[in-house]
Amino acid sequence: MGCNYRNDLILIASADRNWGIGFGNKLLKRIPEDMKRFAQLTKGNMIVVGRKTLESFKGSKPLPDRINVVLTRDVNYQCPGAVVVHDFEELMSAIMDFEGKVYVCGGESVYRLLLDYCSQALVTRIDAEFEADTRLPDLDSDGRWIRKETGGWQESKVGVAFRYDTYRRRGS
Ligand SMILES: NC(=O)c1ccc[n+]([C@@H]2O[C@H](COP(=O)([O-])OP(=O)(O)OC[C@H]3O[C@@H](n4cnc5c(N)ncnc54)[C@H](OP(=O)(O)O)[C@@H]3O)[C@@H](O)[C@H]2O)c1
Repeated sequence: MGCNYRNDLILIASADRNWGIGFGNKLLKRIPEDMKRFAQLTKGNMIVVGRKTLESFKGSKPLPDRINVVLTRDVNYQCPGAVVVHDFEELMSAIMDFEGKVYVCGGESVYRLLLDYCSQALVTRIDAEFEADTRLPDLDSDGRWIRKETGGWQESKVGVAFRYDTYRRRGS
């Protein structure tokens, strides 16, 4: 009970040059290649999202073929097909016994809430600067994190370059 929390969560996000992740409750750029990778990684596992991010999905519906855990403070919130949790403790109980991987999928408030419980961060860096109202903390200047892998730049069919970086929390 209490402090027996999982600390092996995996953060997954796409961020622009300034660590921007969203604007107007939308992604900054939809990169189909990255979406495909996101689906491949997360399917069959668990994703944790904030209520706003869940509502940014198509039809405001949970993503198929994975367990969607949604955080909201609204005790009356209904979301068929998702597990609804209302605070950090309830979230940690909901994920504790899951045998698969738990991906932290945003938005900003959820990344901030759970960053210290992640052991890895998979960050798709977009080589562009967008107007953003939500951000990921800069992991390159956070001494608790190290970049283990830096992907090569790839050209997306939607006309931006992106790369896959992998970070590991020190001591994990
Ligand atoms: N680039 C990426 O990889 C990526 C990934 C995901 C999202 N995004 C973007 O991020 C933006 C959304 O981020 P955001 O920070 O505004 O919203 P968010 O994190 O998706 O959702 C925020 C909501 O989550 C609930 N919540 C947060 N912390 C909670 C806590 N401790 N306990 C209970 N409920 C909690 C609250 O819901 P209630 O208001 O219902 O109480 C809060 O309003 C969008 O633009 C989205 O497209 C980008």
